[in-house]
Amino acid sequence: MPRRIAFINEKGGSGKTTLVAHLGYHFAAERGLRTLVIDMDPQGQLGKTLGIDVHAATRSSLDLLLDATLSQGSAAAALDEPCDRLPRLATRIPGLDIIVSNKSLALFPAWRGSDPETDPSGLLAARLASAPELEAYDFVLFDAPPSFGPLTLNVLRASSEVLVPVPLTYLALDGCAELMRTLDTLRRRHPEARLPVSLVVPTFYRRTRMAREILESLERRFPSELSKNVVGFTVKIDEAQSRGLTIFETAPRNKCAHTLAAIGDELLQRGGAPQPEVNRSDATP
Ligand SMILES: Nc1ncnc2c1ncn2[C@@H]1O[C@H](COP(=O)(O)OP(=O)(O)OP(=O)(O)O)[C@@H](O)[C@H]1O
Ligand SMILES: [Mg+2]
Repeated sequence: MPRRIAFINEKGGSGKTTLVAHLGYHFAAERGLRTLVIDMDPQGQLGKTLGIDVHAATRSSLDLLLDATLSQGSAAAALDEPCDRLPRLATRIPGLDIIVSNKSLALFPAWRGSDPETDPSGLLAARLASAPELEAYDFVLFDAPPSFGPLTLNVLRASSEVLVPVPLTYLALDGCAELMRTLDTLRRRHPEARLPVSLVVPTFYRRTRMAREILESLERRFPSELSKNVVGFTVKIDEAQSRGLTIFETAPRNKCAHTLAAIGDELLQRGGAPQPEVNRSDATP
């Protein structure tokens, strides 16, 4: 199975979608790693930021959950036959595929069938575990929704690790503590879900005293998980996304482009080789 990483923070607008799109691009286009990004947020923004017309897509991440529901107890499942092909699309970036979402994903709780024996939080994990196509990938990156609920639980149970973007605001720190409690509860209920936090990524850094204090709190709380790279605030991100592109394509020399690539490489290193010393180079964007 590929490394499967949940990009998660219950705080809205923390940089989840931006990180999934940019790390997906970096892995595929610049590191030659086969990567599948899966949008599990009904807002459907991951596809849009990568230039996909999500409304024209005939299949979406909802189908992952529905396929899993429908195959439970079916003859195919009993024979251990693989399910249908994944509802993925190729992006314009070689090596980067996507499973898009749209508003219909918000109806998932209503769709999940009436079998009381079915645990709806394990559907995505079950569906991906029965998909031989997944073996072709080095990475699966999940873009999680901001609000906690069945979709987030599905993402976590299908993931092998977690990346937490934290915008440098006071309320986000609070949200981060809440998220750690959620992870603890999930690990207790589902011991097979180890869910190590691979990386905590500070985002939206601005040169203020408050931002520095929050960064220091994060350093104390996550001494080994905190990224050595801090994503600064730049309008270039919004500009790129409004054109369905990444900052790597529209402003490759921008400091934020270098930082996002460095975060991708940090994540690669944390999967195997020991950590090299990297300076917190973008802390003054
Ligand atoms: N480093 C940055 N500097 C400035 N703007 C940014 C940066 N990163 C992301 N943005 C912008 O901030 C907004 C929120 O980012 P993003 O969509 O990645 O967050 P999110 O956590 O996925 O949000 P949601 O919880 O709603 O899904 C977007 O409009 C994005 O273009
Ligand atoms: Mg998002």
